[in-house]
Amino acid sequence: QKGGFEHYMLKEIFEQPLAIHNSLLGNFDKIMSSDFLSSQDFSSVKLIACGTSYNASLVGKYAIEYLAGIPVTVELASECRYSSETREDPLVILVTQSGETADTLAAARLAKKRGHRTLAVTNVVGSTITREVDNVLYTQAGPEIGVAATKTYVTQLMAMYMLALKLGKSRTLRRDEIHRYTHGLKSMPRTVSNVLAKSDEISEAVGMLTNAQSAFFLGRHINYPTMLEGALKLKEISYIHAEGYAAGELKHGPLALLDSNTPTVAACVWDMSYEKMLSAISEVAARDSPVLGIGIEGDRDLEAIVDRIISIPEVEGILSPIPLTVAVQLIAYHTARKRGCPIDRPKNLAKSVTVD
Ligand code: M6R
Repeated sequence: QKGGFEHYMLKEIFEQPLAIHNSLLGNFDKIMSSDFLSSQDFSSVKLIACGTSYNASLVGKYAIEYLAGIPVTVELASECRYSSETREDPLVILVTQSGETADTLAAARLAKKRGHRTLAVTNVVGSTITREVDNVLYTQAGPEIGVAATKTYVTQLMAMYMLALKLGKSRTLRRDEIHRYTHGLKSMPRTVSNVLAKSDEISEAVGMLTNAQSAFFLGRHINYPTMLEGALKLKEISYIHAEGYAAGELKHGPLALLDSNTPTVAACVWDMSYEKMLSAISEVAARDSPVLGIGIEGDRDLEAIVDRIISIPEVEGILSPIPLTVAVQLIAYHTARKRGCPIDRPKNLAKSVTVD
């Protein structure tokens, strides 16, 4: 059943090119021609989710704001019940791979009660959430057995980009821009395969993490949530304490924790955050924190300031969370494997959380 892989998680990480392909095939045309999302009668979007799905929603916020110019808020489903009703009437998008997370279901019911239009992004056909909302987008990742969400996360990202393109189509994006981003999305199976081919290299590079008690994951802009996801994956399966941080926040507290025993994983791609990321990495290195950088192939400036580098192919900055995510998944996986952790069944966790 594991198809020759040692763990379901690794199998599912390697299934991502196919999952991405299926998610495009099953959704792209449908979303681009959907009437539900064509309507101009919502002026904002609210994304609601838990855990990994929350991190995907944060990527969605950056993508929708950047590509469609619509304001987006992101809420933890478990906090929604305390939210006050406002005059805003957003499109509410519930993101949940299982479709069974109790807090996300409660948030869907609250949104309906408040009269908001609702859309669920889920992987499971016929799951409870699909009966609670006006419309459903299936991520088409295929069954996921490992407790750590991997291919369901990456297909949630695909859903976010497709929604952003659809919303941008009638608002901000020119035809050539839509074409460019669509091409970028359609090339993702190949881009991701290229990162997967570095699995052995990543396995070797994680030596700096395996004995750590604590680690930092730094990114900026749309890769800030990518690094929250990297930290979440590492915590969940390797039991190393990890903090995902927006690199600009380092000076506001966490720098005090950095030393030679606290490694840092840093995402640094050629987008609007590049220069600032380089300088954050230099500050971290100056505190002796060993740095594993993830950057674009051929980036000599980054290579010069980090201890190890994992390279990903060059992609549009706004789409870079997809290959970067695959890199951080492999970092977490190989670290946990070297530590002898029960990767597919981490302690204290369940695949879906049906109690609130
Ligand atoms: O099924 P959901 O997407 O609603 O699940 C939410 C979280 O429980 C889930 O994403 C969890 O954080 C992951 N298993 C982490 O890998």
